[in-house]
Amino acid sequence: MLRVALIGFGGIAQSSHLPAYRNLQEQGKVQLVAACDIDPKRFSTKMEINIGSAEEDSGMEFNKYSNWEEMLANEEVDMVDICLPTFLHAEIAIELLNRGYNVLCEKPMALDYEQSSAMVEAAKNAKGQLMIGQCLRFASAYTFLKDTIQAQTYGKPVSAVFRRMSGPPIWGWDNWYMDNARSRGCLLDMHIHDIDMTRFLFGEPDTVTCTTKDFYSGDDIVYSRLMYDGIDVLAIGDWAQEGTGFTADYTVAFEKATIKLDTDGVTVYPRGGKAYKPELSSQSFYEAEIEFFVDTVSSGAANVVNPPSSASTTVKLIDTLRESARNGGSIVPFEK
Ligand SMILES: NC(=O)c1ccc[n+]([C@@H]2O[C@H](COP(=O)([O-])OP(=O)(O)OC[C@H]3O[C@@H](n4cnc5c(N)ncnc54)[C@H](O)[C@@H]3O)[C@@H](O)[C@H]2O)c1
Repeated sequence: MLRVALIGFGGIAQSSHLPAYRNLQEQGKVQLVAACDIDPKRFSTKMEINIGSAEEDSGMEFNKYSNWEEMLANEEVDMVDICLPTFLHAEIAIELLNRGYNVLCEKPMALDYEQSSAMVEAAKNAKGQLMIGQCLRFASAYTFLKDTIQAQTYGKPVSAVFRRMSGPPIWGWDNWYMDNARSRGCLLDMHIHDIDMTRFLFGEPDTVTCTTKDFYSGDDIVYSRLMYDGIDVLAIGDWAQEGTGFTADYTVAFEKATIKLDTDGVTVYPRGGKAYKPELSSQSFYEAEIEFFVDTVSSGAANVVNPPSSASTTVKLIDTLRESARNGGSIVPFEK
């Protein structure tokens, strides 16, 4: 059983990680021993964010701190879960790896490729493992796509569109999301899910183009095209959709079927056949992601599903998209 400490008790920690730890704790896989937040009020405020809300009563008991150094000095911990604003990820993850902890760090890995590469280097020399919370790699609606592509169930994929949209994230500590220097806008923050998924499914694109529009923080509305030999992928990230809640969907056409994710879940439309809904796991993908990391650390297995080097390449691809956007949407080769 791994002893876990959380750093940052805001939106994602409360809405998604805490329920996951409760379920994994019930199975005897982890014990959440402590959590820390610089703002002690976060321990008495139920956070509501675009993707979900904190439970009324999580039923979890753990020690609470306002300083993570003090927490780790007082607690015996095997794994630290970083749920901090993005601009703090690299510095604190590297420090924790140097201290020998296993580190799960929320996405985006870091603000840019220079920072994410430093994290990869730190992980190479560390006793503990590092994983970044690219949670879609553990979401059944997306692993179904991955399996379908790998098995060539419906032939080759020929077109793909991924969208992820919400209102602006204004719940953040010190309003950090609305400050491009600390969040890098929707382009890095929310769009990264679909850019990472595109790499997970199709590998590295040859060239990319991207345009962004500034609305709140800068780079709030993002249109990206990733071009491969044989398929172009369109990805849209948008956090200017005030009032509509959060939506994420995809449509991927294959030679012999089209697969869609929408508010109705995943539907497969085989050419000339009857549409059907595949049976998919209903486990929360945050829980699946945390369980995967806990199992990987506990067994000492190599992490081939979501290694830090891959998360870092995704950050590099976001940097390349930004370069295109800053040059009016020019076509930029992706240096693999
Ligand atoms: N995987 C996903 O789907 C998903 C969804 C939302 C957010 N996120 C990511 O999770 C991270 C956190 O986002 P959030 O929405 O929870 O933000 P948030 O602002 O709600 O929470 C961050 C918390 O960190 C605390 N904090 C700040 N500095 C600290 C410090 N030095 N020591 C201890 N605590 C400190 C803040 O008080 C706040 O409670 C971000 O990187 C974000 O991109 C991921």
